[in-house]
Amino acid sequence: MKVLLIGNGAREHILSEKIAEDAELYAVMSQNNPGIAKLAKKYWICNTENPPEVAKCVKNESIDLAFASPDAVLAAGVSDALENSGILVASPLKEAARIEWDKQFMRNLMKNYKISGSINWELAQNELEAIKAVKEIGEVALKPIGLTGGKGVKVSGDHFNTLEEGMIYVKEVLKKDGKILIEEKLEGEEFSLQVFSDGTRISPMPPVQDHKRAFEQDTGPNTGGMGSYSTGKLLPFLEQSDIYEAHKILKETIHSMKKDGRLFKGVLYGQFMATKDGVKVVEFNSRFADPESMNVLSLLQTSIVDIFLSITDAKLENAVFRDQSTVVKYLVPNGYPDKPQPDQELTINESEIKELKANLLLC
Ligand code: AMP
Ligand code: GLY
Repeated sequence: MKVLLIGNGAREHILSEKIAEDAELYAVMSQNNPGIAKLAKKYWICNTENPPEVAKCVKNESIDLAFASPDAVLAAGVSDALENSGILVASPLKEAARIEWDKQFMRNLMKNYKISGSINWELAQNELEAIKAVKEIGEVALKPIGLTGGKGVKVSGDHFNTLEEGMIYVKEVLKKDGKILIEEKLEGEEFSLQVFSDGTRISPMPPVQDHKRAFEQDTGPNTGGMGSYSTGKLLPFLEQSDIYEAHKILKETIHSMKKDGRLFKGVLYGQFMATKDGVKVVEFNSRFADPESMNVLSLLQTSIVDIFLSITDAKLENAVFRDQSTVVKYLVPNGYPDKPQPDQELTINESEIKELKANLLLC
């Protein structure tokens, strides 16, 4: 079986390891990840956000099955291009991935189909509408509609304090996009829950908590992510009922996407907040979480290739995970995240890492 993976981060490195356990791995990357290159039968370096270019790389390889992984690659329509060239594809098509790349669409979907876990939100298309929305909602999260690499959200109390300060960001986003999403600020503990879906059913993965602040004791600024942990079927601050609630929300979302004519095949990742009023949706993503996927894929016992095939067949296989705790920790350059020193040499003792039963993933 020839399985193609698109992407080149640490998340894709663990995916490559899992694919290579059961199939021949082929990879298309935007930059060489030596970890993936070592596992691949063949790989190409190209603009992974250019669907025709990706399809052209693999044209003569008789690829059986493909999985496009990063958000921007899905938003560009790489799954569509591969499917149109006759390959089975286990990642969402562009119009299904919309649930991540268009936050206005996502909030409207939740509203129109009455999906549980919804929150207060308004779309503002000018400054007056924004001021009105902030006054009505109170404490808010300000969000651009499109993909921002995890760095686009500004939350009152965390990133700004007064309406005037918030409006500086509102103006910046309005100038660029012509609109901005203004959401009620959620308070509580955030957790990530990922599920496989064949468009109708879901097969859940264990919950994980992302860890975004730099430095020991969380004293540093927010980053794209410093690591994550999972403790099996629950997290210390969750009740089993919170997990059921999150599963229910994800199921309702998959059914709504089907009704909306955008069958969702692949991995749906819900970012949730456990609040005093129950589980609320912060975000939906149409892909594996980064780095939380590394926690759960390390525990996956079912063949990922079988799961991907069952997604394309619309006969979703149940994914089984070992019930263990995991920790992902990023090694970052000195000065990260404000002034990372580039090109520093890093020496790593791989055998010592293996002795600790840990896994070294490159990004
Ligand atoms: P996102 O880029 O949408 O994943 O959001 C990045 C981070 O912003 C999330 O992980 C949350 O910590 C925070 N955030 C997003 N939306 C809200 C909200 N409505 N209330 C509070 N925090 C939020
Ligand atoms: N864990 C954050 C993300 O993958 O967007």
